[in-house]
Amino acid sequence: MNLLNVTIDGIKVQVPEGTSVLDAAKLANVDIPTLCYLKDINEIGACRMCLVDVGARALQTACVYPCSEGLNVITNSPKIRDIRKATLELILSNHERTCLTCIRNNNCELQALSEKLNVRDIPYDGVSKGLPIDNISKSIVRDNNKCILCRRCVAVCNKIQTVGAINVMERGYDTIISTADHRSIADVNCVNCGQCINVCPVGALYEKDNTQLVWDAIKDPDKHVVIQTAPSVRAGIGEEFG
Ligand code: SF4
Ligand code: SF4
Ligand code: FES
Repeated sequence: MNLLNVTIDGIKVQVPEGTSVLDAAKLANVDIPTLCYLKDINEIGACRMCLVDVGARALQTACVYPCSEGLNVITNSPKIRDIRKATLELILSNHERTCLTCIRNNNCELQALSEKLNVRDIPYDGVSKGLPIDNISKSIVRDNNKCILCRRCVAVCNKIQTVGAINVMERGYDTIISTADHRSIADVNCVNCGQCINVCPVGALYEKDNTQLVWDAIKDPDKHVVIQTAPSVRAGIGEEFG
């Protein structure tokens, strides 16, 4: 295998040909922020949070930029920090920032990144999209007002699950993750596997919460409530034990 000599923030590493700058940085224990990136599934350079200086005219996205022999990468400079922060502020400008009541509060990659990059003010006035929430499905809720268009859900649905229930629709400001004819996810070929929820970095896709229905049933004197764990959990554990 052909190994390349690469320097990341002064740290020398050797990486196989075809390695991205992001993976080389991981090898050098250098952290580069990412948002849209999902290893081997969604490597499209969309969010531009991972911008680094590779000595080219413009900053490059580390998640898709390939290493070359002798490449010298700077991942942290005032210019890089400023551009990453401005990019994040733009993403946040039309994001529905209802963190306190959001299902992903304290478990949100966008929130964590805002904290990490010290975003304390959003200088841009973004227009809220005011899109309807799709909660017709028995298991999945879609709130496109919180979608940051990272496309991870589309990649996992198409490439891993090979279902293709959701895709990128429309263009420019109107770009949206949606279904055929913008139908509810309940009315298309979605198999309710939940993998899109798993990879969504924000609260744009989430599991329907039936906790209150359970409380109501338990409280109902005319009902006998029987609890059963989901069969897939048992099947999953069974598979592990052969
Ligand atoms: S998705 Fe994240 S940033 Fe957006 S409202 Fe929810 S917690 Fe806040
Ligand atoms: S729904 Fe979530 S995973 Fe899909 S594009 Fe929007 S933010 Fe990304
Ligand atoms: S993580 Fe590299 S462009 Fe989004």
